Amino acid sequence: MTETGISSSNSISVGVPADTKDSVKVLSVTHWNDRLFHFTVERPSSFRFRSGEFVMIGLLGDNGKPLLRAYSIAAPFWSETLAFYSIKVQDGPLTSKLQNIKVGDHIIMKTKPVGTLVLDALIPGKRLYMIATGTGIAPFASLIRDPEVYEQFEDVILTHTCRDADELAYGAWLIEQAKSDELIGELASEKLRYYPTTTREQSPKMGRITTLIENGELFSDLQVPAFNADDDRVMICGSMGLNTDVKALLEAAGLEEGANSKPATYVLEKAFVG
Ligand code: A2P
Repeated sequence: MTETGISSSNSISVGVPADTKDSVKVLSVTHWNDRLFHFTVERPSSFRFRSGEFVMIGLLGDNGKPLLRAYSIAAPFWSETLAFYSIKVQDGPLTSKLQNIKVGDHIIMKTKPVGTLVLDALIPGKRLYMIATGTGIAPFASLIRDPEVYEQFEDVILTHTCRDADELAYGAWLIEQAKSDELIGELASEKLRYYPTTTREQSPKMGRITTLIENGELFSDLQVPAFNADDDRVMICGSMGLNTDVKALLEAAGLEEGANSKPATYVLEKAFVG
């Protein structure tokens, strides 16, 4: 990964003017590879959110109007700064520009957090699974650093499946951060388990998470029983296909979809960008 601290002289700023409505200042930018990056921004002093929620962020489009997309906040509710994880789409209206932001630039962030990947949408249980593919790991970057997760569950499992091994780097870094965190490091070290898999490039564990659930490898690897509605709570965040397929497996095991207004045993959200 490379940290881009200071704008290089040959790069043009893509941020919005600092006095733009709802603007927030970029504090750091980390490029993981040519397809993925994450960045942190200042947290507006009055902004409150629940771990796992998302907000609309963006830049000004060519027509001068805000060009906004939904992004999960990849930082816990208590964090002094906010974070976002993004793909870089070379011809994407927003991410083709957003990938060039530099420290000190400003972006737009609407301060209305929403989402269903929140503890409030789940009833109490023993084990919490967070199942992510690709950039769908972003809301879990928030939740794995929320002490409430460890107060409510005795076993916390984060699965992350990507095509290639280098796409797992951000997740591995997050786990390290969580386990060495001053506030939740001890809890995370004791309760958080990480289960990374790849589907196209060789890595120690290969296969779609759906396959590993169906053939039982996920459970035997983790030495836990198969999904059951009494003990297991599940949060899913990935592509539409992933969400639909995991949902079917969970419902076959007797789990029910929850919402803020009606907590139940699993919740899902589409990974917005990518
Ligand atoms: P695969 O390589 O077999 O398609 P994407 O980059 O397309 O969003 O995919 C991210 C990861 O999610 C890939 O490892 C991909 O596996 C996996 N994936 C995509 N769709 C599904 C699905 N319906 N069920 C399980 N895994 C999926």
